[in-house]
Amino acid sequence: MSNNIDNLLHEERRFPPSAEFAAQAVGQASLYTDSKKDRLGFWDKQAKELLHWHKPFTRVLDWSDAPVAKWFDDGELNVAYNCLDRHVLEGRGDRVAIYGEGEPGDQRVYTYSELTAEVKRVANVFLSLGVTAGDRIAIYMPMIPEAVITMLASARIGAVHTVVFGGFSADSLRSRIDDAEAKLVVTADGGWRKGKVFPLKPTVDAALEANGGGSTVTNVLVVKRGENEVAWTEGRDIWWDDAKAGVEAEHVAQGFPAEHPLFILYTSGTTGKPKGILHTTGGYLTQAAFTHKNIFDLHADSDVYWCTADVGWITGHSYVVYGPLANGATQVVYEGTPDAPHPGRWWEIIEKYKVSILYTAPTAIRSFMKLGREIPGKFDLSSIRVLGSVGEPINPEAWIWYHDIIGGGKAPIVDTWWQTETGAIMIAALPGVTTLKPGSAQVPIPGVVIDIVDEQGVPQDKNSGGLLVISEPWPAMLRGIWGDPVRFQETYWDKFGDKYFAGDGARYDRDGDIWLLGRVDDVMNVSGHRLSTAEIESALVGNNIVAEAAVVGAADETTGQAVVAFVILKKSHVDDQTPEEASALLRKHVSDQIGAIARPSKVYIVEELPKTRSGKIMRRLLQDVAEGREIGDTTTLTDTGVLSIISAQVH
Ligand code: WTA
Repeated sequence: MSNNIDNLLHEERRFPPSAEFAAQAVGQASLYTDSKKDRLGFWDKQAKELLHWHKPFTRVLDWSDAPVAKWFDDGELNVAYNCLDRHVLEGRGDRVAIYGEGEPGDQRVYTYSELTAEVKRVANVFLSLGVTAGDRIAIYMPMIPEAVITMLASARIGAVHTVVFGGFSADSLRSRIDDAEAKLVVTADGGWRKGKVFPLKPTVDAALEANGGGSTVTNVLVVKRGENEVAWTEGRDIWWDDAKAGVEAEHVAQGFPAEHPLFILYTSGTTGKPKGILHTTGGYLTQAAFTHKNIFDLHADSDVYWCTADVGWITGHSYVVYGPLANGATQVVYEGTPDAPHPGRWWEIIEKYKVSILYTAPTAIRSFMKLGREIPGKFDLSSIRVLGSVGEPINPEAWIWYHDIIGGGKAPIVDTWWQTETGAIMIAALPGVTTLKPGSAQVPIPGVVIDIVDEQGVPQDKNSGGLLVISEPWPAMLRGIWGDPVRFQETYWDKFGDKYFAGDGARYDRDGDIWLLGRVDDVMNVSGHRLSTAEIESALVGNNIVAEAAVVGAADETTGQAVVAFVILKKSHVDDQTPEEASALLRKHVSDQIGAIARPSKVYIVEELPKTRSGKIMRRLLQDVAEGREIGDTTTLTDTGVLSIISAQVH
C-alpha cells in the first residue's frame, strides 16, 4: 500500500460539480456551515425532519456513559413504521419500494403498500413463534425481497436481527447463532448464484446439529426459493408461506426507545473470534437516512437506486434496507452474481430499470475493467446520474473508468469511507458541492468530526498522515460488542482515550482532503470484505496436518488483497501427501471452516517461518515475499536464512 501513496497524492485531476447538478442537489453547502455552528442542533434537526417519532425526544446526546453513547434516548420510534407505514399513510403507497430481480431473470415488484402488508404478516409470524422484543433472530438468506422483509419484520416487533452472509460455513453460522443466542433462524431452501441453486437450508441443518445438537434455536422458518430438496425437522422447521397463511394481516407498530437494539452484525477483528457489532435504532436510522439522501443526492420520487451489496454486510443493512426505505426510495434488489448468465448482467439491469444511482465496490469495477468496455457499451446506461463506491480505496484508474464508461463522463462519484462499526457513511463528498478528486474519500460528512493523529494522538495537519480517529460521538456509532464490553473498550478506545480508533491509516493532502491508506492492523480487505488473519490462521492450525500457520493479505489487482498462507506441516504428516496436495487440501479446509470468501488464494508449504527473537511471526516480511518485493528490514530476525528459502520456494 505504502508504495502507492506518493502516486495517489499526485493525482491532479479535478471534477467540480456541473452548474446543473449543483443547482438541483439535495445536499447544499449550508449543511456544512449549519453543522459546524451547532453540531448537536444539526443532528436534532435531521432526526426530527427525517424520521417519525412515536414519542418526541428532548435530549440529543448523552455521552456520560462513554464510550457507550445515547442519542435521542428519551424518544421512541419504530424503525419499520419509518420505512413503511408512514410512506403509505402519506400517500406514497403505490410507489415501488423494491424491484426484486432474481438471477434467472424472474421479477417481483413490491410497492410500499405491498411491502408494508408483507412485513406486518411476517411480524405476526414471529410473534406466533414466541419471538418478542429483544429476542434475537438469525437470518441466513439469499438476496431476495424476503431478506429485506425479514429484517423489517424483526425491527417492527423490536427483535434484534443478526444477518449471516449466505457464503459463510455451518461452523461460522453456528458460532454466531450461539454468541447471539438466537431463538429463530430464517433461511431459504436455496438461492440462485452463478446459474445454479446454492443450497442454504442444509447448512442451517448442519449448524444446528453441530456441538451435539442442543442450541438456543426453537424454530427455522424457510422461504421456498431454490426448489432444491431439503431435509425437514418436524416441529422445528416451518415453510414461510404456510406460516404467513396462519396469521392475521394487521399489525400495529409500537414505538420503542431510541436506544433499543436493532441488530448485531458480526465482523472480523484482529483475533480469531468475530465481533458482534451492536447497533440501536434512533441514531442509526437518522444517520443512515441523512447520508443516503444527501450523499447520493436522492430525489425519491424520480430516482431508481441500486446498491449491489448483500444484506450479509453492513452496506446491505444501511444502504439496501434502512437508509433507502426510510427515505421512501425506489430500489433494485438483485439476487445473483454480476456474470450470470452473461457478463453484462448488471448493465442489463440498469437499462431495464433505468437505474439512476448505483452504489458498488472498487473490486467489482476492476473486474469489469478487465472484461473491457465493450460489455457495458452494449447497454443504455444513460439513466445513471450518481455513482458511489465503498469497501476500500478506489484507485484513480478504476475511478476514471467508472466515471467515463458507467457514468457517461458526467455522473459524480462519491467515494464513501465507513465501517460496520460506524453504521453509516462518515467520509464522503457531497456531489453537488465538492470538487471530486479520484482516489480520495475527501471530507467528513456534515456533523461528523474526524482527525488524523500520530501514534501519540497528536492531530496532524495538511500534507501529513497517521491514524484515522473519530473525535466526537456520532449518531450511528456502534453501542458495543455483543456480550463483550471489555473488548469494545480495548479495541476502539484504549489507544486514544475519548477518540474512536478506526484501524485505518490515512493522510491529508495539501488541501486537507483525506486519502485512506488501508488497515493498520491484522485485518485484511479482500474484495471489500474484512477478513482476519488470526481467524484464518486458527482454522489452518485446526487441521490435523498443520503445525504452524501465518496468513497475510497480499496486494491483488482485482480483489485489493488476496489471502496468502504460509504453513508448516507436522513432521508426522509431511510425507502423507505432496506439497501441492497439502496446499489444495488446506485451501478447501479453510473454505469449509469459515466460508468460500476466506479461502486462501495460495497456501505455501514451508519448513520455517520468519520470527523475531521474541518468537513473533514477522508478517510484514511474509507480505514482502508474497508480493514478490525485495525483502525488507530483517535485523530482528532470528534466522535470516529462512526468508531466502521461503522466497525461493514461492517464486
Ligand atoms: C475499508 C464497509 C477506503 C476500511 C462499509 C474500513 C474503505 C473497512 C472505504 C470497513 C473507502 C471501507 N475507502 N477504505 N471508501 N470503505 N473501507 O466494516 O479499511 O466491511 O476500516 O465496512 O473497509 O469494512 P466494513
